[in-house]
Amino acid sequence: MRVTVDGVVVDLAEESTALAAVRIAGADLPTLCHDDRLTPVGSCRTCMVRLDGRVVAACVTPAVDGAQVGVEEEDLRRMRHDAVEVIVSALPPQALEGDGELARVCRALGIGPQAAQGGTDQGRDHSHPFVHLDRDLCIACGRCVRMCAEVQGTFALTLVGRGSETVVAPGTGGPWAESDCVACGGCVDTCPTGALTEPGLPIGTHLASLTRTRTTCGYCGVGCALEVLTRDGEVAAVRPAKDGPVNRGHACVKGRFAHGFLRSPERITRPLLRRRSGLEPVSWDEALDHIARGLWAAVNEAGPDAVAAISSARATNEENYLIQKFMRVVIGTNNVDNCSRLCHSPSAAGLTAAFGLSGGTDAFEDVERADCLLVVGANPVEAHPVVGARLLQRVLRGARLVVADPRAVGLAGYADVHLRPRPGTNVALFNGLANVLLTQGMVDEEFLRHRASGLPELTAILAGYPPDRVAEITGVPAADLIAAARLYGQAKRPAIVHGLGVTEHLHGTDGVRTLANLAILRGAVGTDRGFGVNPLRGQNNVQGASDMGALPDLLPGYNRVTDSVARGRAEQVWGTEVPDHDGLRIPQMFAAARSGDLRALWIIGEDVCATDPDTNQVIEALESCPLVISQELFLSETARHADVVLPAASWLEKDGTFVNFDRRFQRVRPALVPPDQARTDFAIVHAIAAAYGADLGCPTPAEALAECGRVAPVFAGITHQRLDREGAIPWPCPNAEHPGQARLYLDRFATPDGLAHLAARPYLPPGESPDDDYPLILITGRRWAHYNSGNMTRRSGTIDLDPSDHIDMHPADAAHHAVRDGDTVLVESRHGRTTLPARLTEEITPGQLFCTFHFSSSRANALTSGHADTVTSCPEYKVTAVRLRRTQGRS
Ligand code: FES
Repeated sequence: MRVTVDGVVVDLAEESTALAAVRIAGADLPTLCHDDRLTPVGSCRTCMVRLDGRVVAACVTPAVDGAQVGVEEEDLRRMRHDAVEVIVSALPPQALEGDGELARVCRALGIGPQAAQGGTDQGRDHSHPFVHLDRDLCIACGRCVRMCAEVQGTFALTLVGRGSETVVAPGTGGPWAESDCVACGGCVDTCPTGALTEPGLPIGTHLASLTRTRTTCGYCGVGCALEVLTRDGEVAAVRPAKDGPVNRGHACVKGRFAHGFLRSPERITRPLLRRRSGLEPVSWDEALDHIARGLWAAVNEAGPDAVAAISSARATNEENYLIQKFMRVVIGTNNVDNCSRLCHSPSAAGLTAAFGLSGGTDAFEDVERADCLLVVGANPVEAHPVVGARLLQRVLRGARLVVADPRAVGLAGYADVHLRPRPGTNVALFNGLANVLLTQGMVDEEFLRHRASGLPELTAILAGYPPDRVAEITGVPAADLIAAARLYGQAKRPAIVHGLGVTEHLHGTDGVRTLANLAILRGAVGTDRGFGVNPLRGQNNVQGASDMGALPDLLPGYNRVTDSVARGRAEQVWGTEVPDHDGLRIPQMFAAARSGDLRALWIIGEDVCATDPDTNQVIEALESCPLVISQELFLSETARHADVVLPAASWLEKDGTFVNFDRRFQRVRPALVPPDQARTDFAIVHAIAAAYGADLGCPTPAEALAECGRVAPVFAGITHQRLDREGAIPWPCPNAEHPGQARLYLDRFATPDGLAHLAARPYLPPGESPDDDYPLILITGRRWAHYNSGNMTRRSGTIDLDPSDHIDMHPADAAHHAVRDGDTVLVESRHGRTTLPARLTEEITPGQLFCTFHFSSSRANALTSGHADTVTSCPEYKVTAVRLRRTQGRS
């Protein structure tokens, strides 16, 4: 469509508004109630234009082909001026201070500060730690209300009052802190007047005086693009980047507000060395010398395989690349692993076996176009809030939703069908769904004939999983199973999103394989008839840590260490031999330490004493190992057991890249310098190499990524320079001209035969089942205000939103155990015990309990077992048999 704006002809997409035409034409037109992220409402009349002779609000008026739009006409200017002047007249003078949106609109319209003549009598609500409301500044534009509903999907806000006294308020009434607000900050971000502000950026702040740094969030694996605003070496605020490819101008409480840990007095800022009296501050030289001598002693006395490193899913790609290179090139061992071992290693193994590559099959924007979402074993509303919000919006706009999770997690309330399988029965559930797809003819026979293998074997095994039998195993009613299968089976473009509820099981890889069967049966992967299978990665760079080869069996780019061709390529780049046998996985490292075979363990940015299963066994391993090095922000439980603790930089102090859950490389840039003597992990690895007498080359992160591309062809086209220009690039990206492949397998699967591989896997019971001694099943997971071990979020303002841990139990179980809400209960498993306050909730199924591992004092992982996925060694966090008893009443 073609439109003329003040004589300038512009081409427009169908269904564009007059406002879009004005912007393309480059004309100056203020807006106030409009935000591109929201449905336009046209209430403020700031954007008046003339369209084919009619005076209209540009933001809500569709452009029509051939239309003439007038913007700069004097009467229109006057109308816009008068409309805003009326709005401003009810506001107090400070509304026009600073360079907020309203102040800028007023300046553009020639409205001076004297126009603001309102009083200050409606009061403030500063009850919330991150969202402050000044009612006198509210113009009732409703942007905050729409943001909360249309982007975040929390529906926490409303407009109350009449006429000029209309203001935003929590829908629950009462103070903001007691509302349903999840502190995403979207309302603050969109507010044009300063009625809603955050503590770091009060009304009147001149944004131009702040330094802006574009980076990628260091919390979960969503990969939100953020703008960090700093002043005098401190973070003033963090804003979501409006052009962030995944977050699109949205963020969550963690990325946006959980940065207080940076200046925590508990931050480690000097190296610490264990002496007789405990850990004491030392110089970097002394710490590095101690480490080098310890590594030399381990290698000389017991060989290179007596040394191991746990790399960090919180560290950058370049840091992970350098760490695995150090282990392979300098020490001469493949004993390097990362925490994907504890979360999505079954996704990596399962997706590789099914489709060929170790990553989600599609870009998230494709998933978001699906007409049926199957969300399995994931609670994105809390663990990946930006993805959770976008999935919810998709559902609110009409997509069907099947949630499979034992708990009534956030999305379950919107599900067409909520399947609640007994923990540990996923394989039976997925086989049951596949049985219905197959027996009711909801499969893509053409796809199965030409692009998949394994159908006869799968058909044979699925005969043993009719809905009634699956109902017996899983506890899911047969009718619900059939209804869910029909929703997925009859959708035009179904998508699967899964989380740790699929992977953290004794048969987690089988869970991923049997889940992938559903997409293959429907031809909903590698085609335009669906959006495959997409794991929600937990930590910010857990995908990248594995991509970079911080794995004991895989070199950068997922080439096996046993593959002589891949090894030869790495050896050519690195100029030395690479060991040809698999190294130790994390659980094997701990076992080797306990048996005395491991003499040095280097742990980078992981609090294994809090996050790994069977804490007592982990502590015994650390205490048995002659040299334990911990690189950390804080004196975590793990650091307390180390011999040397090195002060590390955080994600806001680093240069490099992360890879998010849909395989996108994005830049990480330092907004601050590390405090005192803290260093980046990149610098620390180089320093340890130098102390050991080695030079790792690649002196900068950019050079490290470039070198990685020479070792791993799938990353060859990705460089810092390109990312700085283009923003985000998904892998595979084999050369500098390649745009990166967001959606995989459109031509062929990356398996050796080019086919998708169906998997015929039987249901096998979990490692632990309830019995007379331990009659309940404990599930562990995350809550919205915290992250992983909680070392960062517990030291940020987020602690005020969720200050303590508890164990969730169903009221029926509580009654059976004579437990009331808030009572302290002793929880015991075969592996350990802990005490926690009880929270009674029907979110949990009777017979099950739920707690997080965010609070080290809770010792949740003292309870969890050493059972692990039979393929990848991923711990069975989701199924631990426990018992409980009340120890005392409410505190
Ligand atoms: Fe168009 Fe408010 S911005 S009417």
